[in-house]
Amino acid sequence: MLSGLSGKLALVAGAGSGIGKTVALKLAAHDCKVGLFDLNKEGITRDAMLLKMTDDQWDSIISCHLKGSFLFTQILARQMVKAKISGSIVNTGSISGKIGNTGQANYSAAKAGIIAFSKATARELAPKGIRCNTVVPGFINTPMANAIPPHIKQMVLMMTPMGRFGETTEIADLYCFLASESSSYITGVDIEVAGGLAM
Ligand SMILES: NC(=O)c1ccc[n+]([C@@H]2O[C@H](COP(=O)([O-])OP(=O)(O)OC[C@H]3O[C@@H](n4cnc5c(N)ncnc54)[C@H](O)[C@@H]3O)[C@@H](O)[C@H]2O)c1
Repeated sequence: MLSGLSGKLALVAGAGSGIGKTVALKLAAHDCKVGLFDLNKEGITRDAMLLKMTDDQWDSIISCHLKGSFLFTQILARQMVKAKISGSIVNTGSISGKIGNTGQANYSAAKAGIIAFSKATARELAPKGIRCNTVVPGFINTPMANAIPPHIKQMVLMMTPMGRFGETTEIADLYCFLASESSSYITGVDIEVAGGLAM
């Protein structure tokens, strides 16, 4: 059993689907009071090869992922510091942000930015009793991953030592662990859940 979750307030962004939905359900199962935040927005990727990528494809993905993480983290951190509440912020990166992904210069850059952003945040907020870490998913079975074209899926499966996509239940436990007091001395790290994809 993870320590320090029962009765705590947890806010989950992107909780309407996929990873966020499973994380919210797991946190509720740990007896957290869970606040859900979702814009019901389709298409959190706008893929194109670099030579054809438009400004709009670049800007919308940097805005959704990198600026979105900045704004959400900042709003939470300001409230926590003001109220003198300790806690844990868990951001979502991507394996694309570590190895780069063909056709995803925008998404890869945004996710790499989130990993670095979380480390800087961890340094600044550690003295205030607030930790910040990043979960780095590989390919996880969600509506987002299901939209990947079959030939790319096949390529990813060949590159993944475990030979399959992950399930949301296999990644949600890490969010709960990083949110809990069981990870009380862990901050500023990025942890891959990717079936060995980026070894
Ligand atoms: N599924 C994967 O293989 C995979 C791999 C690496 C990283 N990720 C990351 O994990 C996170 C969740 O992805 P998923 O696969 O569960 O996707 P998903 O499409 O199943 O769910 C995403 C949810 O986020 C909501 N959303 C979109 N923009 C939002 C915003 N600005 N504010 C709040 N909510 C918003 C959507 O309405 C949707 O309910 C994303 O950050 C994604 O980039 C997923």
